[in-house]
Amino acid sequence: MAIVMDGKKLSEKIRGSLKEKVAFYKEKYDRVPGIAVILVGNDPASTVYVNMKEKACLEAGYKSVVERIPESSSTEDLLRLVEKYNADNTIHGILVQLPLPKQIDEKRILYSIDPAKDVDGFHPYNVGLMHIGEDTLFPCTPYGVMKFFEEYNIDLTGKNAVVLGRSNIVGKPMSALLLKANATVTICHSRTKNLPEVCRTADILVAAIGKPNFVTKDFVKEGAVVIDVGINRLDGKLVGDVKYDEVEKLASHITPVPGGVGPMTITMLMYNTMKAFEKSIK
Ligand code: GUN
Repeated sequence: MAIVMDGKKLSEKIRGSLKEKVAFYKEKYDRVPGIAVILVGNDPASTVYVNMKEKACLEAGYKSVVERIPESSSTEDLLRLVEKYNADNTIHGILVQLPLPKQIDEKRILYSIDPAKDVDGFHPYNVGLMHIGEDTLFPCTPYGVMKFFEEYNIDLTGKNAVVLGRSNIVGKPMSALLLKANATVTICHSRTKNLPEVCRTADILVAAIGKPNFVTKDFVKEGAVVIDVGINRLDGKLVGDVKYDEVEKLASHITPVPGGVGPMTITMLMYNTMKAFEKSIK
């Protein structure tokens, strides 16, 4: 049976060390990291997520501001808000919750965020730095996956890593971070031929395709490390992209859903905000 990689436990550990850092900086400089989250409209999933972020940030002693603006807001309204936080030196991280209403020009908004405060790691400047192997603000979900490898002493050098999915939020940055860590990386997607066969070459398999139970035992080599980034609702239950009951018998390590990658995303948002804060005071 696979070792279960516990995202709740790892999150608590990282959040605990962030909280200690906050106390240190508060004492030494009377300054704390600050994050501004902008939520447009009342999408239920986004609202839950934003509330969880705020609670986690406040618990660790961060300054946290949430701007809730109406669904009918314009691109210009949102640009003005981003500019306000770009200029605010008590705010070190800015996150515009996605998805945005369709009348808003998402790219213009994301690209207007000061790259030094881009704690989502979505700005092309940071994406570019990541791809040339520099240390910068990396997208939270794949960055959280990298923390699992660190925590469970999984050396990536020379390993075959297969990433299932090519989104800008997970698949592409995941592949960049694995490459930076010296893995041999293959990216698969909906058009990939012989998918199970390619996946069976993986020492490290990361599933981020958003299809419930898609990765069966036929995709997994014995002893592989399997990371499940999927969060799907199936018959009222949360399930990942990996058919867990089958795959846990084959894998050496596996992340569960829920309790695996999910809790790490908010933790890495806090981690990035700390990173941006520390850079701003140095
Ligand atoms: N919506 C769902 N996940 C995310 C995320 O990580 N960042 C942003 N900005 N929006 C999201």
